[in-house]
Amino acid sequence: MGIHVIVGGQWGDEGKGKIVDYFSESADIVARYQGGANAGHTVFIGENQFVLHQVPSGILRQNTRCLLGTGMVIDPIEMSREIRELEEKGIQCTSQIGVAYNAHLVMPIHRILDGISEDASDEQFIGTTRRGIGPTYADRHARIGIPAHMLLDRTEFEQAVQLHLTHANKMITEIYGQPPYQYEEFAEQLEEAQEKISPLVTDVSDEILQALHGQQTIIAEGAQGVMLDLDYGSYPYVTSSHPGTAGVSVGLGIPPDAITRSTGIFKAYCTRVGEGPFPTEIADQDHAVRLREAGGEYGATTGRPRRCGWFDGVLAKYSADLNGFTDICITKADVLSEFDEIPVAENYETNDPFLNVQKLDKVNPAYTYYPGWKTDLTGITDPNDFPETFQRYLMVIERISGAPVSMVSVGPERNQIVKR
Ligand code: GDP
Ligand code: IMO
Ligand code: MG
Repeated sequence: MGIHVIVGGQWGDEGKGKIVDYFSESADIVARYQGGANAGHTVFIGENQFVLHQVPSGILRQNTRCLLGTGMVIDPIEMSREIRELEEKGIQCTSQIGVAYNAHLVMPIHRILDGISEDASDEQFIGTTRRGIGPTYADRHARIGIPAHMLLDRTEFEQAVQLHLTHANKMITEIYGQPPYQYEEFAEQLEEAQEKISPLVTDVSDEILQALHGQQTIIAEGAQGVMLDLDYGSYPYVTSSHPGTAGVSVGLGIPPDAITRSTGIFKAYCTRVGEGPFPTEIADQDHAVRLREAGGEYGATTGRPRRCGWFDGVLAKYSADLNGFTDICITKADVLSEFDEIPVAENYETNDPFLNVQKLDKVNPAYTYYPGWKTDLTGITDPNDFPETFQRYLMVIERISGAPVSMVSVGPERNQIVKR
């Protein structure tokens, strides 16, 4: 059966949570393979809104095993809080969740360092989520991080945290000139988290390999989006992991050919949170505010207003080629219903002979204007009922990206999905 990957095709917040929840109905396993609590994945079930940060979006289906893979950085304190909040909403989930023994742990000091380095950087402010993601991946690569299996022995865990804090304090005092932190400040929260999360530690790679042998259905849930990839995104305005299809193999510990389907999730327009170039960003504030309000474009993790722009065909093609999308899902098509015409950037105007995604601040999008559909799509269930103008829009996206649009999301609710 293989692994079906759900990847954010743009700058994150494309609606991955909703689509993962949709596919989870028939999945045995849903596994996150990168990122951490920087993600905010929203699922609406009736009037109930769930925003998932580290727990995979399959958790709202009973009996689906939800795994946090090796490629993730896991904040045990935030994770305990997230599980508690789910339990308060009646989702008894601990028996469903597994945490990779070789994923790395985000410590409170990582969150603090994320904030300090952002506050200290005038020239290269990234606008991170301040969840400690960058500092934790940095320590992992410097080989001074704390793998999740350390949670299994309280004394070993405490020693590892203390040693790590000594390293971090050097940076805090010597580079940033701030007073050092003491272990005691975090001890109580860390002990509680250790107790709660240690029983969840497992071998995620082994679980998935076994499931593959058993012909089970496995969904890999991407966080962030392709344009935020550490290497293939708009560096340095990126996250510190690999949100694309290629991240799944290392992030879950599976052979690349176990991946049989990779669905790219794209909004019918674009948004971005945080700093960095955004070629199709709408400059006219009235238009931008109109789109933001129509789409409810405020961050699910930080509440920050999202920057809004039109569909970027150049980057959609880049994203589809890079990730080998077998198909595409278009979300939030309903949000554009009120617009008379819909611009799509099909090309960039540039004189740069070596244009690449790290130079997106140097391009001007060349727009083609398509007529709006001016029809409420939210109740449509049959693709043949889509207005012709909207069908044409989908065909434009298919032509540009080279991948078929297999489904369209027409509202935030679980069942507002039209298969084509
Ligand atoms: P994710 O990070 O990719 O999971 O996306 P977010 O949850 O951060 O942001 C997507 C937002 O759009 C959430 O508030 C969803 O409830 C909402 N949403 C998802 N699909 C649709 C859709 O088709 N139409 C509308 N109007 N909202 C949607
Ligand atoms: P989901 O999974 C949108 C952005 C931040 C910032 C940059 C680096 O909900 O789509 P980080 O905290 O990762 O070091 O921040 O990446 N960012 C996201 N933007 N959606 C996300 O996740 C994001 N996760 C990180 O705003 O620009
Ligand atoms: Mg999000």
